[in-house]
Amino acid sequence: MKILVVGGGGREHAMVWKLSQSPLVKKIYAAPGNAGISSIAECVEISPGDIKRLTDFAEKNSIDLTMVGPELPLTLGIVDEFEKRNLKIFGPKKEAALIEGSKVFAKEFMKNYHIPTASFKIFETKKDVLDFIRSSEFPLVIKADGLAAGKGAFVVEGLKSAEEVIDKVMVEKIFGESGNKIIVEEFLTGEEVTVLAFTDGKTVLSMVSSQDHKRIYDGDRGPNTGGMGAYAPTLMINDRMMEKINEDILEPTIFGLSREGRIYKGVLYAGLMMTENGLKVVEFNCRFGDPEAQVVLPLLESDLAEISISIVEEELELEDINWKEGSAVCVILASGGYPGDYEEGKEIIGLNRVKNEGVIVFHSGTKKVGDKFVTSGGRVLGVTAFDKTMQGALNIAYSAVDKINFEGMQYRHDIGYRATNVRREYF
Ligand code: AMP
Ligand code: GLY
Repeated sequence: MKILVVGGGGREHAMVWKLSQSPLVKKIYAAPGNAGISSIAECVEISPGDIKRLTDFAEKNSIDLTMVGPELPLTLGIVDEFEKRNLKIFGPKKEAALIEGSKVFAKEFMKNYHIPTASFKIFETKKDVLDFIRSSEFPLVIKADGLAAGKGAFVVEGLKSAEEVIDKVMVEKIFGESGNKIIVEEFLTGEEVTVLAFTDGKTVLSMVSSQDHKRIYDGDRGPNTGGMGAYAPTLMINDRMMEKINEDILEPTIFGLSREGRIYKGVLYAGLMMTENGLKVVEFNCRFGDPEAQVVLPLLESDLAEISISIVEEELELEDINWKEGSAVCVILASGGYPGDYEEGKEIIGLNRVKNEGVIVFHSGTKKVGDKFVTSGGRVLGVTAFDKTMQGALNIAYSAVDKINFEGMQYRHDIGYRATNVRREYF
């Protein structure tokens, strides 16, 4: 089988790595891939948003299955275009990807199907939202409707900061059309946890739970990032809770989308908050999470290519998905300055010194220049370790991190601390 993986981050490296272990897979292409992916797949210079070229490439190269990593091509309708040409592809169709592409759609959908989420109101003008906020209690969360590269949610503590956010999103349009509508929602407190699920639109099979670390600095301080590290499974979700998440959240979502003719085949990402009043959905994404994929896929015992084919063929109910015993941890190494401005092209030293059993270094923003690896993005590497215990995995991951360096490198020293209550010494 020939597979094309769309995307070029750590998530896609984890997907390619897992797919490459399948006896069903003979060849993997990645578009555009990255320097790490290029050691196990052929990278092709096509950007994930270029649906036309991706479809032409898949047709011309007789690709048997295309797997989509990032949300952009899914919300642009890559699945619809591939299927028009009878090409097999793993991911939701455009109308189903709206669950991530439009927060207004997602919130109204959750309300209609009684899926627990923060209470909310939708606004189309600055005046209406300000009128509402003047009579509300803080903190509140303000969100842009459309895609905003993970930066579209703002927690505001007072009227002044709320007005600044509304101006940026609705007037200055820092996220473009994504800011045409905004949502104001209740601020939820509690632990955040990610539950991913495989689905073919009829069967929904949840994966092991995981937890991302969104803030840049130790102790969950500083601005939000794409994710500075993750671990799986979490201790917070036991089997009984996972069953409830399936029954109350994942299945009603997929079955509701199906009922509306929104075909969903792929991965549903539920970002959940464990509040005093039960679990609530913070967000849905229409794909694997990053960095969550970097810890969840190493724990998957079963064959990802086989699961993916059964999803595309709508035969997921026949699959028996197995998970490894043990824990996985991923520490993201990021460029200095990230999530703000950062420089690229810094030589990465020490990758060849990481040879420990149980460690995989997934690449995100890396490039090869001659025989050297250099940085080419905000998040650069995901150092992932697997062990029988979480503490063991943390020890292995951080001892590998100690061997790698590039100018300006920053990372969190406390990944997994909520799971173990063990904080490493801050440097
Ligand atoms: P979103 O863009 O909806 O994925 O939100 C990004 C991040 O903002 C989430 O992962 C949470 O950490 C935080 N967040 C979003 N909505 C809420 C909420 N209603 N209450 C508290 N935190 C939130
Ligand atoms: N880790 C957050 C995301 O993938 O959206």
